[in-house]
Amino acid sequence: MYPITRMRRLRYNQALRGLVEETEVGVDDLVYPIFIDENIHEKKAIESMPGIYRLPLENVLDEVREVESLGIKAILLFGIPKHKDELGSASYDDNGIIQKAVKLIKKETKLLVIADLCLCEYTSHGHCGIVKDGCILNDETLGQYQKIAVSYAKSGVEVIAPSGMMDGQVKAIREALDANHFDKIPILAYSAKFQSSLYSPFRDAAESMPQFGDRKTYQMNYANAREAMREIKLDIEEGADIIMIKPAMMYLDIIRMAKEKFDLPIAAYNVSGEYSMVKAASLKGYIDERSVVKEVLTSIKRAGADIIITYHAKDFAKNFSN
Ligand code: PBG
Ligand code: ZN
Repeated sequence: MYPITRMRRLRYNQALRGLVEETEVGVDDLVYPIFIDENIHEKKAIESMPGIYRLPLENVLDEVREVESLGIKAILLFGIPKHKDELGSASYDDNGIIQKAVKLIKKETKLLVIADLCLCEYTSHGHCGIVKDGCILNDETLGQYQKIAVSYAKSGVEVIAPSGMMDGQVKAIREALDANHFDKIPILAYSAKFQSSLYSPFRDAAESMPQFGDRKTYQMNYANAREAMREIKLDIEEGADIIMIKPAMMYLDIIRMAKEKFDLPIAAYNVSGEYSMVKAASLKGYIDERSVVKEVLTSIKRAGADIIITYHAKDFAKNFSN
């Protein structure tokens, strides 16, 4: 007879299970993304993301007050401007939609305001950089990112999150911030951002679908893990304060690798397509939303994420905060 190792001994009741639990997601690990649309005057449902809305400036305060009352501490802002052009110039307009929204939010709440910094919501072609002859130019784009960073910082954005995947973007933004006395503002770098099919609901939400081609010349091939470590290493050398892996659920191996290799805080973006899949299956009654959401977020944290950006944040807070 083999002796039996009794693993079940620590599973017989909730108190024991709680004591030996290794990973726990808290509401204060979460960041809630918010879309603010300059073109509307009533909140507008995003069809491919049930439960998520584009908000006019008029509705932003109600939303952020609710977010704050649920115990969520941080939000990530995306803007949809009235005016789009080749250069994405509305992004660095000091009177732009993000700039106006931040002022409002900071006046009325204590939420930490993070802003996504990219051009794709602001350019007529929907690419994340300046386009010439069908190519997305790298170095010409960096100057635009610098202007956005400074304008955001002036308006009160507290953390800047560049998501365009141009080479050298963290360094360029750090230099521009420092030169304008914003040395206290951290950069949350979208370091390992993969070219994923899971962003399409977001692109409906933010009207940022590329009008030609795709993002394969700047976002990473999802087949590559070692390349992701190079991207992260470079962002750290360039001055990133927090590194991000995006998407999350299908990239837990990348999160784990990064956790073992680097000692900066790690964020993971549980993206729009991940949200929509869970939501759609839940709405059909195929899975139980509440428990699946907890499992998803716990797995991302267990893999090594310190911070999780997720559209589930409000639902999670409603269901699981004490
Ligand atoms: C902008 C940006 C995107 C997302 C975050 N910032 C879209 C993209 O790269 O096409 C995706 C977020 C999501 O899918 O939830 N560059
Ligand atoms: Zn972009």
